[in-house]
This record gives sequence, C-alpha cells and structure tokens, in this order.
Amino acid sequence: MSSIPLAVTGSTGAVGGLVARDLAGRGVAQRLLVRTPARAPELAGSTVHAVTYSDAAAATAALEGVETLFMVSAAENADRLAEHRAFIDAAAAAGVGHIVYTSFAAAAPDAVFTLARDHYATEEHIKASGLRYTFLRDTLYLDFLELMTGDDGVIRGPAGDGRAAFVARADVARTAAAILLDPAPHAGATYDLTGPEALSLAEVAAILTRVTGRDVAFHDETVEEAYASRAGYGAPPWQLDAWVSTYTAIKSNVMAPLSPAVESITGIPPETFETYLTTRPAPQ
Ligand SMILES: NC(=O)c1ccc[n+]([C@@H]2O[C@H](COP(=O)([O-])OP(=O)(O)OC[C@H]3O[C@@H](n4cnc5c(N)ncnc54)[C@H](OP(=O)(O)O)[C@@H]3O)[C@@H](O)[C@H]2O)c1
Repeated sequence: MSSIPLAVTGSTGAVGGLVARDLAGRGVAQRLLVRTPARAPELAGSTVHAVTYSDAAAATAALEGVETLFMVSAAENADRLAEHRAFIDAAAAAGVGHIVYTSFAAAAPDAVFTLARDHYATEEHIKASGLRYTFLRDTLYLDFLELMTGDDGVIRGPAGDGRAAFVARADVARTAAAILLDPAPHAGATYDLTGPEALSLAEVAAILTRVTGRDVAFHDETVEEAYASRAGYGAPPWQLDAWVSTYTAIKSNVMAPLSPAVESITGIPPETFETYLTTRPAPQ
C-alpha cells in the first residue's frame, strides 16, 4: 500500500467514486472526504472523514498532512462558490501542496454557461491561495445526454446547430487518477477534457435512435421557449439560467474544439457517445 498523502472528495458520487476506486485498485492509500460517511465506498487503505465544503474546521482537520487533493466541484446550489472558497481556504490552512479541481470548459467571468463563471471564480481563488494546482475543464458529460431526452423522446433546448465534444465521466475520472498518481508534471496546468468528436444535438438524437432503438428527435427552442418550457419546475432563477445556458453554450460552439488531453495524459483515447451507449453496464 502506497503512503502518498492523498485526499479525494466526492467518492459518494460518480467521478470521485471512480477516481477513488481506480486509486485503491492501484494500492494507493487515500483519505475519503465525504458528507455522509455511511455512503462512502469501502476501499482498502482508505480512511473516511466527514467533511462538507463549508465546514472549515472539519476540512482543515481532515486535510492535515495531505499533499495532494482531488476536489470535485460541489453540487449546484446558490452558495456553491462560497462553499468552494471555504474548502480551498481550509486546504491552504492545512498545508495541502497540490489541488486537482474539476472545472468546466471555457470557464470565464462572462462564460455563456452561467455555472462556468463560478468555476472560473473557483480557479482564481485556488490560484490566489498559493497552492499548486491542476484544473480539469470538463465539457458536458456525455453520460447525461440520454437524460436530456423528454418522456416524449424530444431533446429540447436553444442549441441550434452548435456542437460540443461531450466527455464521459469515466474519461474524466481516469485522467484525474493519472494526475493524482504523479501530480508534479501537471502543476500549473489547465486541461480541457473532451471526448473524441464534437456532436450537435441533432446528431446526438440520431445516435440515440440508432443505438437504443428509441425514436429521439431534437427540437431547437428559442431562448424564450426554453425558459417557458422549464418554468413549471419551480426552480430558482439561477437554476433556470444554468439549464437554459447549457444549450446556448452548445450553440456557441465553445465546447466544440477537441482536446488531446485525455489521451496524452492516460495513453487511452476518450470514448465516443456510441461506445459509451454500447458498453455501459446494464441498469441494476
Ligand atoms: N460537466 C458536466 O456535464 C457536469 C454536469 C453536472 C455536474 N457537474 C459537476 O461535476 C461534479 C462531479 O460530477 P459527478 O457526476 O461525480 O457528480 P455527483 O455524482 O453528483 O457527485 C458529486 C459528489 O460531490 C459531493 N458533494 C457535492 N456537494 C458537496 C459539498 N458541498 N461538500 C462536499 N461534498 C460535496 C457529493 O456528495 P453527496 O453524495 O453527499 O451528495 C458527491 O460525492 C458535480 O458535483 C458537479 O459540480 C458537471
């Protein structure tokens, strides 16, 4: 069992869970920082610590002596940026050396996808903290594409003919794991993590139809239609903005450029949407 002082957040979720299992499978000891210890994966060599990002005292105590930290961005909520800042400050106070953070493609103060603005602010906070860092700027997860389909088989949103190089969560996770195993060469790096092809939502619908046998179509809403069709969910304005701007970000083509990072860091190319659909485990 390796004694690299490493901490992983989000292991009760998808990306963090895959990272933690990958590391454990390689015999790496790790501290799992989770909100609900009872839900933490049971992994050889891991210790479990109850930490929510806004709890600075718990985070500082759990991170004492940790050299490298994998920080999964928090669940979307109105206070997410404040939670991120508190956790980063705790990591700096605990003496963490290097933080690997899951950011978002084209993170910028004026990003089309509104939540990418918070990712940019988080990146800036990490830079200002003095920690060494690596930013993984994921595009939209291709794991979610099927879930964007309504019960009527229609993907609706103002995405037009825009394209995005959707990336599989599994590819994000194995890239993160490779960096965590040897972070030094990646200090100060910002990587765009993309899949191998940029797809429009009409193409996504066609692939879903061909591979799953379910008829799926794409309907290009106007922005006004997009807000109206989502108004009934009772979501707060920031959430509605995030939902709608997911599609306008696709339309802007900001996630269309392909990045070599997944393959260059892991040696294995990222998977296509079709491969994802045909090789994913069957639902339990
Ligand atoms: N690129 C994209 O398309 C996309 C889409 C959606 C989300 N995201 C972002 O990517 C992140 C990772 O994706 P995922 O698929 O692994 O998400 P996920 O399955 O929802 O897992 C998120 C993990 O983060 C933990 N977490 C959330 N808020 C936290 C907080 N305030 N303090 C401490 N831990 C917290 C969760 O803990 P619990 O189990 O206790 O909830 C969970 O373990 C998400 O959290 C989200 O920020 C990206």
